[in-house]
Formats: sequence, C-alpha cells, structure tokens
Amino acid sequence: MEFNLNLKKIKPSGIRKLFDLAQGQKDLISFGIGEPDFITPAHIREAAKKALDEGYTRYTPNLGFPELRKVLADKLTNKNKISVTPEEVVVTSGGTEALFFSCYILINPGDEIIIPDPGFVVYESQVYFAGGKPIHLPLRGKNNFHPDLEELKNYITPKTKAILINSPSNPTGAAFTQEELLLIAKIAKEKDLFIISDELYEDIIYDGREHISIASLPGMKEQTISIFGFSKSYAMTGWRLAYLAAPADLVKEIAKLLQNTSVCANSIAQRAGLAAIQGPQDCVKEMFSAYSERRNVLTKGLNEIKGLSCYAPEGTFYAFVNIKETGMTSEELSMYLLEKCKVVTVPGTAFGTQGEGYIRLSFATSLEDIKEGINRIKKGIEKISSC
Ligand SMILES: Cc1ncc(COP(=O)(O)O)c(C=O)c1O
Repeated sequence: MEFNLNLKKIKPSGIRKLFDLAQGQKDLISFGIGEPDFITPAHIREAAKKALDEGYTRYTPNLGFPELRKVLADKLTNKNKISVTPEEVVVTSGGTEALFFSCYILINPGDEIIIPDPGFVVYESQVYFAGGKPIHLPLRGKNNFHPDLEELKNYITPKTKAILINSPSNPTGAAFTQEELLLIAKIAKEKDLFIISDELYEDIIYDGREHISIASLPGMKEQTISIFGFSKSYAMTGWRLAYLAAPADLVKEIAKLLQNTSVCANSIAQRAGLAAIQGPQDCVKEMFSAYSERRNVLTKGLNEIKGLSCYAPEGTFYAFVNIKETGMTSEELSMYLLEKCKVVTVPGTAFGTQGEGYIRLSFATSLEDIKEGINRIKKGIEKISSC
C-alpha cells in the first residue's frame, strides 16, 4: 500500500538516532535533551491539582478557555507589544502543534516556506506534511548565525508564501536584533509574505538583550502568526501547552483544524497555564539565572579546549560549538563523544546542512554535570589531537 507521499520526504531525526544509541548506557552525561531540567514550579502544579478536584475534566472550547485566552491576550499586548484581542489568540497542545497548524493553514500544494538552516528539526517536516516545499535559508557561523538579509531576498520566488523565523534560536542561540526584524518585516511587506515567528525561548535571552516580537513592529500583526509556549519559560514540556496569536480570519481556520484533530488543549494543563501567566514570575527569573550561570561555565570551559570554539549564545539554553578544527564531521564527533567519553551531544547536521562543523550542547542540566561533561570532552578531544 502507498502511504501519504508527503511522509516519504521526512528524514529520520538525527537527534533520535543518537538518543537511541545512548539508551540503557550508564554513567552518561547528557547535553542532548532540549528541555528544562527543572520541575514545573509548585504554584503551577498546585493549580493543576486544584483544577482536577474542581472538576475541570471535560472538553474545553476548541480555541481554549475564554479566561485563558483573555489573560494571554493581555500578556501579548503588554509584554510582547502585540495588541491582540482574545479572539486573535489560540491555545494549542504545545508549540509543535501551533507550528503545524500555521503551516497547514498557509500552504497550498507546492507553496514555498523559507525556513532557517540550521533550524529546529520539525520545521522542514511540517512544511512537507502540509504539502509545501521547505526552502532552507543558510545561517552562517561567520555571522554568528544571524541572517544575511540580502541573501534572504534571493530565496524569495513567486511561490514563496511565508518566512519562518525563530529567535532566540534552537539550535544556534542567536537572537535577532530589532534592525534585522525590521528588515525582515520590510521584505515581508514588499513581497506580501506571511511570517511564522517561533518565540518559544522569549524568556531566555542574555546580557540585557530585549526579546522583540516581529508582530509588534508597525503593520506586522496582520501578516504574522506568533507562537509562544509554556514548555521552556515555565519548565512545562510534558504538559503540552502553547499559544499563538494570529489575525482573526486565520483563527477561524485554525478552529476547523482543532475541531477535527486534537479538539482542544488539555483542560488541566490550561488551568495550570492560567496560574503560570497570572502568578508570580520569579520562577521564570530564577530558572533564567541558573541558565545564565551554566552558559558562562560551559562556554568558558569549551573555549579552553583546543580544537573547539563557542561564542556565548544570545538566548536559549543551547551552545552551538564549532568543532571544525578537530577534523571530524559533526556526526563523527558526536558518536565519538558518546562512545568514548559517555557524553551525549547532538550533531549540528541534525538541524540542517549548515550545521556541519558544529555540535549542539543543551545546558539545561546541572552545573555539576556540565563541569564533568567538560572534563570528559577535554580528555576525548586531546586524544584525537594526539593521534
Ligand atoms: C524552537 C522551538 N520551537 C518549538 C518547540 C516546541 O515546543 P513544545 O511543543 O514543547 O511547546 C521547541 C521545542 O524544543 C523548540 O525548540
């Protein structure tokens, strides 16, 4: 039997391959997983327990509880400067679902969507699922993985429907500047393109940088789908909760998708999400300051290893490390570090061809493990150089 041909275009995940090999191995130090190591803050967990006891156990409206959409619209308006009404907000089962809905409603067969390379692994797959063609925009190490906006123009064709951006970026840690976003906005306006803006890491941005939402720029709200989440900001990956802001006519289309797929985000998770947004934000700041310290320790430690170099990420909890001097490919080095040093990393090529020459290390892990991991990597790399 012939399955959906779009599925044939999806490559097996380069991240999975390594995790599968790591399965069952003892004494591993993992820089692999892209999720906070913290447990969800107590007041959010309490809200979920209360929601269960109060009987929030039924379907919710497709687009989310009205009170949650209202609180999210206020947050988007006040914090992100995207002035939206609750009718322009959709609650989803995670950012991944929000990305899927965005691609699905925008794409007609053969439409092109420009995606970052290196970029979060699901972008390419989701464009394919929706029947579109992903066009990889190279982000280069020499520019610290910021986009070359002249080059971006060369990738736009009459078939281009949207540009997908992700700032701060997984896996590179780059956070786009206001100037860059203004230029992207200008291009989108001139060429009448939509922007899908993945802002899952809005709260993890360093050195006093300000997270800027492209939809907050003049006239951009009308042609942007902005995606935000709970997974990274509130350590809520397992709850499967996120939200997007989009023009009301798109929200109507998303409602059709929700009605016929997941129906609504989990009711308990939505109540917990309400507590997360309405409650004190100290937990977000505390986790951020832990990431900040770990980032400094990890980048300093890696830069002291001959053969590796790593600029301090501007946002996220990922270090994207240049390994070119080792003479190995990304995949070879990741395998070597796993097999010989018991350290899990992700080859840069898992995120696109531009990731060759890099490995991604997630520092959403304890300082103790980071220090031990650096020691192991140092010893491992010294062995390669002495061969
Ligand atoms: C850039 C980016 N976007 C979206 C997601 C999806 O997050 P979730 O589906 O957990 O909300 C992730 C998760 O790793 C991510 O790194």
